[in-house]
Amino acid sequence: MDKTPQTLPRDSWTFSPSINAEIRRAAETGIYDIRGGGAKRRVPHFDDLLFLGASISRYPLEGYREKCDTSVTLGTRFAKKPIELKIPVTIAGMSFGALSGPAKEALGRGATMAGTSTTTGDGGMTNEERGHSEKLVYQYLPSRYGMNPDDLRRADAIEIVVGQGAKPGGGGMLLGQKITERVAGMRNLPVGIDQRSACRHPDWTGPDDLEIKILEIREITNWEKPIYIKVGGARPYYDTALAVKAGADVVVLDGMQGGTAATQDVFIEHVGQPTLACIRPAVKALQDLGMHRKVQLVVSGGIRTGADVAKALALGADAVAIGTAALVALGENDPKWAAEYTKLGTTADAYDDWHEGRDPAGITTQDPELMKRLDPIEAARKLRNYLAVLTLECQTIARACGKSHVHNLEPEDLCALTIEAAAMAGVPLAGTSWIPGQGGF
Ligand SMILES: Cc1cc2nc3c(=O)[nH]c(=O)nc-3n(C[C@H](O)[C@H](O)[C@H](O)COP(=O)(O)O)c2cc1C
Repeated sequence: MDKTPQTLPRDSWTFSPSINAEIRRAAETGIYDIRGGGAKRRVPHFDDLLFLGASISRYPLEGYREKCDTSVTLGTRFAKKPIELKIPVTIAGMSFGALSGPAKEALGRGATMAGTSTTTGDGGMTNEERGHSEKLVYQYLPSRYGMNPDDLRRADAIEIVVGQGAKPGGGGMLLGQKITERVAGMRNLPVGIDQRSACRHPDWTGPDDLEIKILEIREITNWEKPIYIKVGGARPYYDTALAVKAGADVVVLDGMQGGTAATQDVFIEHVGQPTLACIRPAVKALQDLGMHRKVQLVVSGGIRTGADVAKALALGADAVAIGTAALVALGENDPKWAAEYTKLGTTADAYDDWHEGRDPAGITTQDPELMKRLDPIEAARKLRNYLAVLTLECQTIARACGKSHVHNLEPEDLCALTIEAAAMAGVPLAGTSWIPGQGGF
């Protein structure tokens, strides 16, 4: 009998159970994994920063007596009618097609009650959304799906999408299961056939052409509407500088944790920079051009709490945008559908197959029966509440730092818990005055 002592089974870090499962899945199917959501791996994030608060050297504001303003104006550079928001949180662009009509309606209703804007997405503007959004930003995308010059005029602002944080350099995807007659009609596509959107605009290849495109849109909209440019977190310093040069009123910067409705997992996890790493270079570009606060910066990608909002603002953003968190507030990934997630082979919190159109919560689907599960009025109420909490939390922190406007938060109010976060955010490592990584970008 062999008397050699046995070692316990040990999983490999390199070939972990989940990596092996993916190799087997790839070997079985011959197709890459497509999913929704943002990067799932841990990267340096707002959690790695802390506020210092006030003490002897800084004076806090009295919570109930002294006002801390949260209003934001976007588009003050050229637009005749800038967008006035009551709170520094906006709803990011999410396509009709990826989302159901009732979900778009709920976003519009909730955002309007909270005093903020919502945004269309690939595939055009729906009446539900326009009708229920007091301030609606209309996306102008490489695909031009659903693009309609009349809708440019019906919008309150235009967002030219150059890229998304989940997939900088990549285009959208909408699988056949979600291309119903209505979605197909709006996109001028056949019903039920997988669609892959263009990854670059057909009629411009660089900033000089983009400048001409922006002028064209300004003329169509009588110079009234602010023009935003949305970029994924690829090269934030140069992309921000070029967006300003091309004539943007607002730069929207989406980091790698930013959600998507459907993209290759390899793209989501391996392309683009963390949101935290993108803000400082973008703000520096604006400062170098003398445009900080003149061209507004909206940051997105993994914003979940009022602390995240406050940290993004302290690093120099004017506002943030939320996608995934807004869907969760409406009811996406809700454990009340646990049994159905199990049937789909997943769990409520892990569920990411938003592209398949079988969403038990009725949000990322076009299935008429599933869609009925979302009551847009109740979902809007929850979104409004959530937006109120984000704002109150952000205000609480700003007051504790002695600020009478959330925009007065500054990097000086922050420290970092890790060297990586300190270098990325450009704030001192906690307990030191050391800011690593000051050598440029
Ligand atoms: C379901 C879904 C659909 C989306 N559709 C679009 C789109 O059509 N156009 C776009 O620019 N971004 C789209 N995005 C990205 C969002 O605009 C935003 O950049 C991202 O969700 C922000 O990150 P967060 O989800 O962590 O808040 C989508 C995101 C989600 C979750």
